[in-house]
Amino acid sequence: MFEHIQPYAGDPIFALVDAFHADARPQKVNLSIGIYFDEQGRLPVLPSVQQAEARILAAGGAKPYLPMEGDAACRAEVAKLLLGGGHPAITEGRVATIQTVGSSGGLKVGADFLKTWLPEAGVWVSDPTWDNHRSMFEGSGFRVETYPYYDAATGGVRFDAMLDTLRGLPARSIVLLHACCHNPTGVDLSPAQWDALIPVLRERQLLPYLDLAYQGFGDGIDEDAYAVRALAAAGLTYFVANSFSKSMSVYGERCGALSAVCATKAEADLVLGQLRFTVRRIYSSPGIHAAKIVAHVLGDADLRALWQAELAAMRERIAAMRVALHARLTTLAPGRDFGYFLSQRGMFSYTGLSAAQVDQLREQHAVYLIRSGRICVAGLNTGNVDRTAEAMAAVLRG
Ligand code: LMR
Repeated sequence: MFEHIQPYAGDPIFALVDAFHADARPQKVNLSIGIYFDEQGRLPVLPSVQQAEARILAAGGAKPYLPMEGDAACRAEVAKLLLGGGHPAITEGRVATIQTVGSSGGLKVGADFLKTWLPEAGVWVSDPTWDNHRSMFEGSGFRVETYPYYDAATGGVRFDAMLDTLRGLPARSIVLLHACCHNPTGVDLSPAQWDALIPVLRERQLLPYLDLAYQGFGDGIDEDAYAVRALAAAGLTYFVANSFSKSMSVYGERCGALSAVCATKAEADLVLGQLRFTVRRIYSSPGIHAAKIVAHVLGDADLRALWQAELAAMRERIAAMRVALHARLTTLAPGRDFGYFLSQRGMFSYTGLSAAQVDQLREQHAVYLIRSGRICVAGLNTGNVDRTAEAMAAVLRG
């Protein structure tokens, strides 16, 4: 029956995590997967989330099925977090938000929905992008192409080339954009670049699909929602998949959402109905614990303030590690420009290290990063940053 099945080569990110855990060397450093670790190298449990969970249990902790679209309070809080409370798109009923199984669940539900309702569309992702974007959309039956993005020569964005490519796309093409903290490069569009991109999206009648997995890790919760709000202000119709995995440190709870911002309430209602049907066909309904955490943390003024402070502390610790790595590498490898560690945003930096250099780092120095040269800066701490810099400098010396 199954003899013909091809072996699965494994996921490049998760396989590396497995290899890291299997590594017996005590000095090993995990800069692979996009997970925030604290100064002690532990996965933090945020007090805001702990307090929310205590309240959920105190309220009885019953676990009925949620509706297909998820918990109403959670969905309302998500829309407000994305667009800002009282936004006209929300008050006019033009936002269709569903709670999803992480933002990956949201991306997948959105991809299946779009394959049904825009079956001829192609999907365009940044070059490079998160490994799983291509797999997900191809898995939903799409043809996936790339638009120019990262400029290895300057460490910036090939913005003119990006716009040229987007100008040449057929109407109704789907354009996947990282709203902030680009994964894997850490190189974001500036507000001015978003402002220049949006008219192209509108004139070409393209459908922006934002991936917002790292809100709060760039410059702040509202600052990182710039693209979401600018698209709404320009009156575009678009999708946004957002995640609380990193921002609330609730990776395994699978807390995420998918929102469609539409031209009219009637359209949003149609979209919501079909998103519900899409969910029903995949996993029926999302998890209740995830919904309650999000609804409590965002919906209670005290918990929300606590969470915002916790998120700011995570963001600031990452920024401090960027400064420390940059300083140490600049001393160890003078003559090289490591300024990209300071200008890139969020958890990731693109080091420009080759796959062979990455292998050398792992094999000889027990420093784990993705073979594209992406490092997760959030895996650094004051105890391992010097060793990491020394290992990188040794590999760069060849
Ligand atoms: C990453 O890029 O490392 C994270 O988004 C985790 C994942 O699922 O790949």
